[in-house]
Amino acid sequence: MIETKHLTASAADIEEAGRLLADGKLVAIPTETVYGLAANALDEAAVARIFEAKGRPQDNPLIVHIATREALFSLSEAVPEEAIRLAEAFWPGPLTVIVPKNDRVPTVVSGGLPTVAVRMPSHPVAQAILEAAGVPLAAPSANRSGSPSPTTALRVAADLDGRVEAIVDGGECEVGVESTVVTLCTDVPRLLRPGGITCEQLEEVLGTVVVDEAVTAPLRADSAAASPGMKYKHYAPKAQVTIVKGDAEAFAAYVNAHKADGTAALCFDDETDGLEVPYVTYGARQDDIAQARRLFEALRQADDRDVKVLYAACPRPEGVGLAVYNRLLRAAAFRVVTL
Ligand code: TXA
Ligand code: MG
Repeated sequence: MIETKHLTASAADIEEAGRLLADGKLVAIPTETVYGLAANALDEAAVARIFEAKGRPQDNPLIVHIATREALFSLSEAVPEEAIRLAEAFWPGPLTVIVPKNDRVPTVVSGGLPTVAVRMPSHPVAQAILEAAGVPLAAPSANRSGSPSPTTALRVAADLDGRVEAIVDGGECEVGVESTVVTLCTDVPRLLRPGGITCEQLEEVLGTVVVDEAVTAPLRADSAAASPGMKYKHYAPKAQVTIVKGDAEAFAAYVNAHKADGTAALCFDDETDGLEVPYVTYGARQDDIAQARRLFEALRQADDRDVKVLYAACPRPEGVGLAVYNRLLRAAAFRVVTL
C-alpha cells in the first residue's frame, strides 16, 4: 500500500505532480479524453510500475504524451509526413498517432513493438503537468485493467487509491472516451481505435483511411491484433451488458419483457417513458458527443446500483458515435440483440 496524495490543479500542486513524475513516481492526471495513469516514459522502472498498478498485460503498449508537437521528433527518427499533417490539424487534442520508435523509447512502453503511440493532450492541467515534469509521460487510462475508463478523479481514486503516489483532480473529462488511434506504419493509414477525432476528420487530412475490422467485430482467435489492446476484455462493468438495437418503443418493450431482479436499462435521455425497470441515461439519441462524455460514468453508476443485467440502447455508429459503439460493444462482450 502506498499513501496516495490527492492533489488539485493549483500551481503548487502541479509543481508537486511534476516533481513526483520526474522522480519516477506514478501520478494519475486529467486529460480531455479520460484520466491517465502517468509515469516518465523514458524511465523503464517507472513504466513497469504502471503495469503493476493497473494489472495490465505486459504486451499491451502505452501511449506517450508530449508537451509540444516538436517532441514527436525526439521519439522517432522516421516521422511519416502524414503524422506531421495530423499533428498540425488535431494537436493538441484527442488523437494518437503510431510511428516508428527510436532507441530512447524503452521496449516496456512499446510492448516489444518497433513502433510507438504518441499524443499531445489539450487539457490545460495535462499540459501544465507535462511542462512541470519536463519529460514525456507514458499514460494508459487510469482504471484497473478491464474496467471502464475513469472520467472523474473520484472514479480514479476508487480504482487506484493505495497504488499510486498521487491523483490530480482536474474536473470532469470533456470528451469522455479515449483518443482516436491511427497507425501510419501501414501502407494506408489505419484507424485502430475510434475516438473524439472522427474518421471523417482524419480523411479530410489523409485521404483514404482504413477502419480496422476489430473496431466493430470481435478479434478472431487466429489473427494477430494490429493494436494489442484490442484482444483484451475492456470497459466492462460488473453488470452483464447486452446492446439492444431498435427504436425507443421497441427497446422499452424488449426490456420490460425481460424485467427481473437486478435488471436495468442504459438508455437515451428522452426515451425513459414506458420503462418498467430502473435506468441510467447517457445523452440524447442524436447527441453522440454527450453519449461519449457520459458512457463510462453511466456504466459505473449501474455498478453503484448493483445492476446485474443491463440492456443498453444502441448508439448510431457514425461520427463520435463510432467510438461510443466500439466501447459499448466491448463492455457487452459483443452481445447484441437486433429487434
Ligand atoms: O485518450 C487516451 O488515449 C488515454 C489518455 C490517458 O491519454 N490513454 C489511453 O491509453 O487510452 P490506453 O493504454 O488505455 O490505450 C492505448 C491503446 C491500446 O489499445 C494499445 O494497444 C494501443 O493504444 N497502442 C499503444 N501503442 C501501440 C502501438 N505501438 N501499436 C499499436 N497499438 C498501440
Ligand atoms: Mg484503457
